[in-house]
Amino acid sequence: MCGYGQRCWGWGHRAPSPMLLLSLLLSAAPFGLLGEETRQLLEFDGTNVSNTAAKPPGKPYPPYSLAEFSWNNITDSLDPATLSATFQGRPMHDPTRAFANGSLAFRVHAFSRSGRPAQPPRLLHTADTCQLEVALVGASPQGNCSLFGLEVATLGQGPDCPSIQEQHSIDDEYAPAIFQLDQLLWGSLPPGFVQWRPVAYSQKQRGRESALPCHASPLHPTLAYALPQSPIVRAFFGPQNNFCAFNLTFGASTGPGYWDQHYLSWSMLVGVGPPPMDALSPLVLGIMAVALGAPGLILLGGGLVLLLRQKQYSEYQSIN
Ligand SMILES: *[C@@H]1O[C@H](CO)[C@@H](O)[C@H](O)[C@H]1NC(C)=O
Ligand SMILES: *[C@@H]1O[C@H](CO)[C@@H](O)[C@H](O)[C@H]1NC(C)=O
Ligand SMILES: *[C@@H]1O[C@H](CO)[C@@H](O)[C@H](O)[C@H]1NC(C)=O
Ligand SMILES: *[C@@H]1O[C@H](CO)[C@@H](O)[C@H](O)[C@H]1NC(C)=O
Ligand SMILES: *[C@@H]1O[C@H](CO)[C@@H](O)[C@H](O)[C@H]1NC(C)=O
Repeated sequence: MCGYGQRCWGWGHRAPSPMLLLSLLLSAAPFGLLGEETRQLLEFDGTNVSNTAAKPPGKPYPPYSLAEFSWNNITDSLDPATLSATFQGRPMHDPTRAFANGSLAFRVHAFSRSGRPAQPPRLLHTADTCQLEVALVGASPQGNCSLFGLEVATLGQGPDCPSIQEQHSIDDEYAPAIFQLDQLLWGSLPPGFVQWRPVAYSQKQRGRESALPCHASPLHPTLAYALPQSPIVRAFFGPQNNFCAFNLTFGASTGPGYWDQHYLSWSMLVGVGPPPMDALSPLVLGIMAVALGAPGLILLGGGLVLLLRQKQYSEYQSIN
């Protein structure tokens, strides 16, 4: 059967085209992220929370159910030239007018070739992947120290949920100071993955100063949902009926936060087949060569000295 080493798809050996991937994500996104009862935008009071990995990261405020959001007509934002589209929504009933000047947006971006986006975290993408960027912009928080989160639903794997794998690297060339990559892998057909750097940004200008930690909870099986009616989605996923949910929370009570500019963005990469692998950057390879090479040279030097000494010693002995 199909393992991760091989590239192997539901339909013969042809990978889906970027446009098909985009359609797939556009059809599946409303189901996975939007519109279901339990999918929600979470908000917590981060005041006095010192442990950033605490779950939940503070006292929860009433969440916003994404089922009660109204969304723009996706057709209007679909751009075949850049292979992208944006869902933008706000609560239908907004008594506190928190979203009077704000919105929650999901931007889906497919790629026609391999590369990296210009902005961090610059995850390596291929034509078999799509990027999903979530942005909360301009909404009034419910408190002075609000931390936000998302509850995300995804397909299960057999009776179990995939687990979040953390990969650590010594290389942060593309995502400054972020040495971790989190991913979910599905081994069964269609094999696929979701991956992200555990970082969100509190400014449009993404960098070290605007980076917030992103924490993911373990996945739990959730109520069974029907897949969306889209024939594309049905053809791709088949008769799947096991779903899992997890929470992502962004930020800590200290450091940059949503409160700075009322801006929060986070992105992930979704794809079929095995995930793209980052090679070490030339800079890191150079540093490694120097760092590992120098002790190597010292060892070699030590060895030579030792050899010479032994030689001298044996010569000395032989003379004696
Ligand atoms: C936060 O801590 C301060 C001092 O420890 C306390 O006065 C305040 O009531 C606390 N606030 C919350 C929301 O717990
Ligand atoms: C979305 O817009 C397109 C054209 O712009 C239109 O054909 C379609 O009916 C609209 N869909 C909804 C749900 O309003
Ligand atoms: C929305 O923006 C307008 C103008 O920028 C401002 O006057 C108004 O107070 C804002 N409303 C909220 C709820 O923030
Ligand atoms: C927000 O901060 C201001 C000033 O720092 C304070 O007066 C106000 O009580 C705080 N509000 C909440 C909800 O904590
Ligand atoms: C996500 O967090 C909210 C608020 O703390 C909680 O009610 C919900 O059960 C969590 N969901 C998951 C899947 O952990």
